[in-house]
Amino acid sequence: MRAFWLTDIHLNFLSPQETDVFLEDLAAARPDAVLLGGDIGEARNVIGQLARIDDVLAVPIYFVLGNHDFYHGSIAGVRRAVDELCRLRPRLHYLTTGGVTSGGVVRLAPGVGLIGHDGWADVRVGDYERSLVMMNDYRLIAELANCSKQERLPKLRALGDEAAEHIRQVLPAALAENEHVLLLTHVPPLLAACWYDGRTSDEEWSPHFTCLAVGEACLEIMAGHPERKLTVLCGHTHSPGTCQPLPNMTVLTGGAEYGQPAVQRVFEY
Ligand SMILES: [Fe+2]
Ligand SMILES: [Fe+2]
Repeated sequence: MRAFWLTDIHLNFLSPQETDVFLEDLAAARPDAVLLGGDIGEARNVIGQLARIDDVLAVPIYFVLGNHDFYHGSIAGVRRAVDELCRLRPRLHYLTTGGVTSGGVVRLAPGVGLIGHDGWADVRVGDYERSLVMMNDYRLIAELANCSKQERLPKLRALGDEAAEHIRQVLPAALAENEHVLLLTHVPPLLAACWYDGRTSDEEWSPHFTCLAVGEACLEIMAGHPERKLTVLCGHTHSPGTCQPLPNMTVLTGGAEYGQPAVQRVFEY
């Protein structure tokens, strides 16, 4: 089986015709499954884009959402709409809510499990206090807009904690049944995976590009399972890189360019 991993495809930067060409080319490469790492579109078009992806590819699509997927909407509203879409389209699997998977773990191939969660930049690395970065997230996502930087801090941490809680529930279960687990997420889980232009992000940017709560959950769980292997697939920085924080844990960060969606890697089992 061949699973194609893509991240940050940002289909709203393509015309409908360009989207169809991209999806038809992808279908012609004959993936058996597709792993989509978030930033697919924006709140007002992500449902239609997921439906189009399902129609053209016609294979299981396992995905998480990224910050852009909630722009001009709310996290709660988009997640609800996406859950509803997945109920109507059985090939679409939103790993964050895990509604259609068995306990949040997908068996991709014998001995290979897949789990996932959106993750969220939880401003725990770098210097949030001094950072002047004003992400569009803080203007365009209902839950994060119209509040001060200080008021936003606990909200961002709570989103990271929610992601980590999900990982703490599903990763041990996935490791119990599989030698190798893939974790699909949008936000790099550690500073070492927060690549930008060939190096890790600085104090100014890294708070908004790292989900440390998820990283710490993974490190803790994998330290207790030296006989198992975890590969984390993330994106969000649009800058590629690889890091190996533990002998049995690797984090791949995907690159991306607006308007040029691309396959990051093909996993063959
Ligand atoms: Fe992105
Ligand atoms: Fe992103």
